[in-house]
Formats: sequence, C-alpha cells, structure tokens
Amino acid sequence: MANRLLSHLLASAALVPSLTLASPGAAPLVPRTWEGRSYGCKCYFGDACWPKQKDWKDLNSTVNGNLAVIIPPEAACHNFFNGTLGAIQTYDAAKCADVTTNYPREEWINAQDATLMWKYFTNSSCVPTTDAATPCTPGYYGTYVIRAKTKQHVKAGLDFARKKNLRLIVRNTGHDFMGRSTGWGALVINTHSFQDVKFEKKWKGGPSGGYSGSTVTIGAGVRGRDLLRQAAQQNPPVTVVTGECPTVGVAGGFVQGGGHGPLTTIFGFAADNALSFDIITADGKYLTVNEKKHPDLFYGLKGGGPGNYGIVVTASFKTFAERPSAGAQLYINSTLTTNMTLYWDGVRIFHSHANNFVDAGLYVYFSVGPGSMRVRPLVAFNQTAAQLDAVLAPLKADLTAAGVPFWSAPAGQYATFFDLYLDLFEDESAGPPTLTSGWMIAREDIASNNDGIIEAFQTAISPRADLENRGYMVGHLFGAGHGPQPVDVSATNPRFRVSSNLMLYLLPLPTDATWAQKADIQNLLANTVDRAFRDASPNGCAYVNEADPFQDNWQDHFWGPSVYPKLKMLKKKWDPSGLFYAIALPGTENWDVIEYGTRLCKKL
Ligand SMILES: Cc1cc2nc3c(=O)[nH]c(=O)nc-3n(C[C@H](O)[C@H](O)[C@H](O)COP(=O)(O)OP(=O)(O)OC[C@H]3O[C@@H](n4cnc5c(N)ncnc54)[C@H](O)[C@@H]3O)c2cc1C
Ligand SMILES: *[C@@H]1O[C@H](CO)[C@@H](O)[C@H](O)[C@H]1NC(C)=O
Ligand SMILES: *[C@@H]1O[C@H](CO)[C@@H](O)[C@H](O)[C@H]1NC(C)=O
Ligand SMILES: *[C@@H]1O[C@H](CO)[C@@H](O)[C@H](O)[C@H]1NC(C)=O
Ligand SMILES: *[C@@H]1O[C@H](CO)[C@@H](O)[C@H](O)[C@H]1NC(C)=O
Ligand SMILES: *[C@@H]1O[C@H](CO)[C@@H](O)[C@H](O)[C@H]1NC(C)=O
Ligand SMILES: *[C@@H]1O[C@H](CO)[C@@H](O)[C@H](O)[C@H]1NC(C)=O
Repeated sequence: MANRLLSHLLASAALVPSLTLASPGAAPLVPRTWEGRSYGCKCYFGDACWPKQKDWKDLNSTVNGNLAVIIPPEAACHNFFNGTLGAIQTYDAAKCADVTTNYPREEWINAQDATLMWKYFTNSSCVPTTDAATPCTPGYYGTYVIRAKTKQHVKAGLDFARKKNLRLIVRNTGHDFMGRSTGWGALVINTHSFQDVKFEKKWKGGPSGGYSGSTVTIGAGVRGRDLLRQAAQQNPPVTVVTGECPTVGVAGGFVQGGGHGPLTTIFGFAADNALSFDIITADGKYLTVNEKKHPDLFYGLKGGGPGNYGIVVTASFKTFAERPSAGAQLYINSTLTTNMTLYWDGVRIFHSHANNFVDAGLYVYFSVGPGSMRVRPLVAFNQTAAQLDAVLAPLKADLTAAGVPFWSAPAGQYATFFDLYLDLFEDESAGPPTLTSGWMIAREDIASNNDGIIEAFQTAISPRADLENRGYMVGHLFGAGHGPQPVDVSATNPRFRVSSNLMLYLLPLPTDATWAQKADIQNLLANTVDRAFRDASPNGCAYVNEADPFQDNWQDHFWGPSVYPKLKMLKKKWDPSGLFYAIALPGTENWDVIEYGTRLCKKL
C-alpha cells in the first residue's frame, strides 16, 4: 500500500535500548519501535549482535576468500565511499570513465557484485559524476557480498545469515523491477558464477510426470540469451522457454515468479516446464525437489515468488525441437502521424486483435509511448512468413480503413527461432529512477471493453496534469493457456491462462526525489494507474515479477484464492523464521521494511 510508504513521512524512529528477544527456533531479533509499533528486527551494523571482525574473517575463509565489502562501482567517480565500515578513498579516473560509459548496459550490470538495473531501489546514493567531491554512500545496497563459486559457498552464506540474524539477499542478474535483489545492510550472495549448462536427449533426473524427452540443467546464474545460444548449438538444435529480455536469468527470479517469454504461447511458462530443482533450504539442507520429492516445495518454486522458499543452485527444464519461425514489426510514430486522435485509433485497433494473435500462436512484444507505438517483434514460432502475414492482414486492413498511417515490412522468415531472437530482440538499458507496475489483461475484457483498456493506456501515459506524456508502457501478448499445459501445473495464477496481454507501465522520478515525491508517485501508480487497469480489466491478474508490490490485495492479484493459501503454508513450513524476505511474497505479511527503507523487521 502507498499508505505504508506515506506514513513513513509522518513518523520518526524511536529506539529501544539494546535487549534482544529470543524467539524459539530462530536467531534473536533486535527490538525496535517505529510509528508506535513494536518490531523485532534483523541485526545490522551498529547493533551489538553485528558479527565481529573475526566472524567475517572466518566466513571469508569458509568461502575461500570470496567475501567482499560491497563498494558500488560508481564510487570510482567519488573521492570517498562512506560505507558502514568507514570511509575509504575510491577515486579512479579511468575506472570512472569506464563506469560512466557502461552504466546503462545490461551485460555490465549483470557482472557486478550488487548493482541493480533499477537504481530507484538503491536510493541513488552513489551515481556517476564529474564532481568527485559529491557524497557516495551505500544507499540500499548490502554491506558484504559472497561471490559464490560453489554451492558450499552459498550454504556458508545462508547459514551465517541465519545464525547471525542478518538480512539475506540473493542477487543474480539484478533485473528485479521491485528491488527484490537488494537490501540495506544485508549479506548478499551473488550467484552469477553458476554458469553450468548440460543438455540431455532423454530426461533421467527423477520423477517428471511421465516426461522422458529432452532437457537442460542449468546453474542459477545462466541468462536467457546465453542459454538459447547453447541450445541452438545442440544437434539437433533445441530451444527453451526464457524471457524476452536477453539478460534476465532463468533459474533465479524468472522461473520462481513464473517466467513468460516468446515461446509461452506455445509451451507455457518457464515454471510449467521445470522438472527439478537443487536448492538449499532455510535450515541449510541441500535438497533435490521434483514431482515426488518435496512436491510442495517443487510447486512453490514454480511461480510461487522469487527467493521465498530456498536458494536455487540448479534447475532442470524441458527443451523443445527448434523450428523455422517468422517475425514481423509494425510502427506508428511521429514520422507517420502527429495527429493524436489517429495515433490512439491505431493503438486501439492493434490491441483489438490481441486475442486473435494469441489464438494464432503468436507472441508479441511492443511499447507504447507518447505518440509512438513500436511493435517489435511479432513472433510466429513454427510458422512461415506467409502464415504470419496472413495473421496480420486483418490488422493492416483495419488500420488502413481507419486512415491510420503505419510502417511495416513483409514478415521475415528465419531458419530457427534463435535466429529470429538474435535479429529482433534487443538489449534493454537501465534508465533513470523509475517505478514500474503492470496488469495482465483478461481475454474476455479485451473482447468486451477494448476501448476502456485503451483509456487506461492513456492514463498510464499521462496520469496527471503535471505528468503529461511522462509515462511509458511495454506490452507482451501471450497466451499461457494456448498450448497444452494444465492450469495447475505450476503455482502461477490460473487467470493467466485466460488472459492475453501483460502490460507494464513505468513512471519516472527525479534522481534526487525526496520521500514526499517518492510517496506521491507511488500513490499515483497504485491509486490512479493500477486502478485504471483493474477497472478496465476486472478479470485480469498481476505478475509478481512485474507489478507494483505496494498494491492492495497483491495475494489475490499475484496468485488468487486457489494458489495463495498453499504458498502461505509452504512458507510457514520451510522458512518459519523468515530468513528469506522480499516485498509482497507469500507469508511475508508480518514483515516490514521500516525507518525509511532500511531495517527489515517483524511485527511483534
Ligand atoms: C528489462 C527486463 C525485461 C524483463 N523481461 C521479462 C520477461 O520477458 N519475462 C519475465 O517473466 N520476466 C521478465 N522480467 C522480470 C524478471 O523475470 C524478474 O526481474 C526476475 O526477478 C529476474 O530474475 P533474476 O534472477 O535474473 O534477477 P535478480 O534481480 O538478481 O533476482 C530477482 C529475485 O530473484 C531472487 N533470486 C535470484 N536468484 C535466485 C536463486 N538462485 N535462488 C533464489 N532466489 C533467487 C532474488 O533474491 C530476487 O528476489 C524482465 C525484467 C527486466 C528488468
Ligand atoms: C577475503 O579474503 C580475500 C583473500 O584473502 C581478500 O582479498 C578479501 O579482501 C577478504 N574479504 C574481506 C571482506 O576481508
Ligand atoms: C566521507 O568521508 C570523508 C573522509 O572521512 C569525509 O571527509 C566526508 O565528509 C565523508 N562524506 C560523507 C558524505 O559522509
Ligand atoms: C535515501 O535517500 C533520501 C533522499 O532521497 C535520504 O534522505 C536518505 O537518507 C537516504 N537513505 C539511505 C539509507 O541512503
Ligand atoms: C518511425 O518509424 C520508421 C520506420 O521504422 C522509422 O524510419 C522512423 O525513424 C521512426 N520515427 C521516429 C520519430 O522514431
Ligand atoms: C486527426 O484525425 C482525426 C481522425 O481522422 C480527424 O478527425 C482530425 O481532423 C485530425 N486532426 C487534425 C488536426 O488533423
Ligand atoms: C509445427 O508445425 C507442424 C505443422 O503444422 C506441426 O505438425 C507440429 O506439431 C508443430 N510443432 C510444434 C512444436 O508446434
């Protein structure tokens, strides 16, 4: 709720002296009071319980010297990094130039210890600059990182965090839209070294609902395009359900949140195709989970929310035979028309075809900004260019009949889906501080209320008089229920199976936004833009990885009444003390991040 954020403005912290509470079976929480409420908090730097130098040293030897203090790379542009462990000199002109150039690049961000795509969630407290005298502080970054190279390193970090009552963060690629891969003062376990990939023609890895076809087993850090590239090199070439974004991980937040991508219309979510996970549980056990071994955990890892039940070390997925595929593009922009009435007519007509596209087996990625719609690409897996052109013909005829100018070229034919992927999907870049939300629009609402849905689009682009044309949107047409997947194969919301468009909407904030400005934009997102989408598509749902975590009823929107209670039980069973936490995940209702986005605490 935006109110949670807002109320932070109105109160101040009252500190309670240093006694610690012992709760049975869990590390002691640190008592604090905030806004008149009693909390038990994780242990942070400055608390008496914070590990001693020797403890960190021992941890460092357990992880073979792979423990490091988190210093944002941007610190190279500043004289000092003033971290929790004191000020250190960091200025380095060459490194600063390098950081400044690479700052928006996904590949570079992925490779860092803790850097995020969405800087809003770092509190933008250390940014590239030409003025080295400006401050560089940790913001919402963690304090230490383990650059894990083995599963033993992951376990060592997990056990240390549990025993010492530290905030624990798993950071894979740093893509998360809600800041779930960072936490103030946390111990971070970075998993991007886990790059093993093993393809097999026949699944031999355990019970799998009778599936015996081809599979791949990947390490936690493997990213989408890297996986697809290796899949395309198999003989015969295969493919996998990954994200549209080339650099999103596959076994981390992606599959654990559900995981949709260009093949979802044909093969379902990544979660629908998972066969087995090797994980480390909150109590430090290595477990293999599949259909028969710990089926409740298996279910929860398939869409029940990222990083909530265990740390995934490896995951196995079905693979599918590569097929020739067709791709197309269609743009309406200011070169073609500056008449906004015509432009929105074009968007409306395009969107009225969403259900037809999904029925024809398509996946479509598109963006809608002020006066510019860019549909790139439309993907037809296992179809010819002629088939795709035939699917698009009614759309083009409708646009022409309405006098809407558009650009498109005949559909392109590709020997494989991977060739299409390389040609038509682009790297995305990290931009200025942004808040993101999204809504999955139901088929029946597109059929009955397309005009209302386009009004919600307009609200997202111009949510308020002072923010005219400041919004931006990205849409994904897919039908997770188009293929043969049973509705309950994964812990994804069943409403996804009867929906056609996952719409994301983004609102920018100033880099130096005050708390009042942040609360204002958060409130606008939740109470104006989200509301517009929910009202326009009441039968839709929301995607845990790509939606506003402060929305009301996130339990219902993310999972719904048939799935959520199972996940809440799962959390209670496998992580009763709350070692794993991220916002708006099952069973985290009793936890809050208090004191202006810093301490993670349990309500007492
Ligand atoms: C540009 C962009 C494009 C995107 N495109 C798509 C898309 O096409 N389809 C889609 O479904 N989603 C997409 N997403 C959303 C994406 O799925 C989520 O951001 C997802 O959380 C990323 O997971 P990650 O592991 O790569 O990232 P991280 O940000 O590193 O981690 C995300 C979350 O997963 C947890 N986590 C990571 N690794 C592990 C692990 N090994 N074990 C346990 N928990 C772990 C983290 O703690 C965190 O909570 C996109 C996001 C961005 C920014
Ligand atoms: C951990 O050990 C390595 C290797 O000795 C060292 O380089 C590194 O600085 C140590 N980390 C911390 C946090 O002290
Ligand atoms: C950071 O530390 C340096 C060196 O101690 C000090 O001069 C500077 O004022 C500090 N900056 C901030 C923002 O605390
Ligand atoms: C976060 O940024 C705000 C300013 O927007 C600042 O007041 C606050 O101290 C910062 N918090 C941290 C932990 O950096
Ligand atoms: C509009 O799209 C056309 C076709 O791709 C492109 O050539 C043109 O540069 C675009 N105009 C703008 C303003 O982006
Ligand atoms: C914009 O297009 C609409 C719909 O075709 C038309 O009625 C209107 O006159 C146009 N406006 C301008 C300024 O050309
Ligand atoms: C690909 O298309 C052919 C012919 O239409 C069909 O027989 C086959 O099942 C399809 N394969 C997949 C994986 O969709």
